[in-house]
Amino acid sequence: MFSKLLIVCTVLTLSESLPTTITLSNGQKMPIVGLGTYQATGDVIYESVLNALDVGFRHIDTAYLYDNEKDIGRALKKVFSEGKLKREDVFVVTKLWHTFHSRPLVMEGMKKSLNNLGLDYVDLFLVHFPFGLKEGTNMTTPVDDKGNVLFSDVDYVETWQGMQDVYDKGFTKSIGLSNFNHQQVDRILSMARVKPMVNQVECHPYLNQKQLLDYSTKHDIVLTAYSPLGTGRMLNETKLIEIADKHNVSAAQVLIRYQAQRGIVVIPKATSKKYIAEDYEIFNLNLSDSDMTAIDSLNKNLRYNVVDYAKKHKYYPFNIPY
Ligand SMILES: NC(=O)c1ccc[n+]([C@@H]2O[C@H](COP(=O)([O-])OP(=O)(O)OC[C@H]3O[C@@H](n4cnc5c(N)ncnc54)[C@H](OP(=O)(O)O)[C@@H]3O)[C@@H](O)[C@H]2O)c1
Repeated sequence: MFSKLLIVCTVLTLSESLPTTITLSNGQKMPIVGLGTYQATGDVIYESVLNALDVGFRHIDTAYLYDNEKDIGRALKKVFSEGKLKREDVFVVTKLWHTFHSRPLVMEGMKKSLNNLGLDYVDLFLVHFPFGLKEGTNMTTPVDDKGNVLFSDVDYVETWQGMQDVYDKGFTKSIGLSNFNHQQVDRILSMARVKPMVNQVECHPYLNQKQLLDYSTKHDIVLTAYSPLGTGRMLNETKLIEIADKHNVSAAQVLIRYQAQRGIVVIPKATSKKYIAEDYEIFNLNLSDSDMTAIDSLNKNLRYNVVDYAKKHKYYPFNIPY
């Protein structure tokens, strides 16, 4: 009886005290909940970042592709100059775009992002996808005159050498991958002098990435869950609503807490003040083991971000299960 009670108390204490950060393999602390910013630009994202920092977010996820680094930089500059926060209080993540995959161009891609953000360094720089696009045009997604996407065949192993270069120079505190399958991560691990600290992948209950999570944990790589709300399409799922109602929270909060409770960094995107505040209010929510099992059971390997145009590329990552 006593030992049963002790186990229950220990489990509760562990889950109640969900830390706000997770420690990466190089010792850097990464806030477990961050603000996603895809498809939000201009004053919309500027205001969103200010609101997010105000309610407690200390991690902002962007990418060269999102065309919002300058607006995010504006918001950061405002809070730093007003003395509300210091640079070291905010974990800024950005991503190398596909047209900068050859080793010398990685530095150029890094510098473009830093320049946009108005920062001397970012906290985490990720290779956005393992495949590359044609370099040296001024197009973000280069196409020929018939509209066909133009690829490059730069090996992502070469790209990783460039990532190590920018890490060595101190332009980023950590480096990592995004959208790499476990075989591609294996190839990086087999040659890396600096091992990737993070892999950012699509992850929500319909694609819960259990195998990739186990693989990543084994290799001391932290997973970040992108599209944790299934791009908003998971919010009407009956089972989630039942769990949410039971805890008197929203389905979005269940989805965000689910990832954090699995030790996965989670980056919901929200632009309204209400959703931003709600998405950070997950630290007092405790999902029980049976809640977690019920959410796990929703998995159906459904991927939303399939990137159709790159399906034939030799480094397309989604041809194997994980
Ligand atoms: N590495 C990659 O290749 C990659 C790919 C995709 C995404 N990402 C990153 O991951 C982030 C998140 O993924 P995502 O943007 O695809 O989708 P998501 O976070 O799964 O869902 C975003 C949608 O949910 C809505 N929402 C947010 N909070 C809500 C709440 N509490 N209640 C109801 N609705 C809510 C948002 O509303 P609003 O319209 O008001 O914002 C938006 O429509 C991105 O923004 C980006 O930073 C990375």
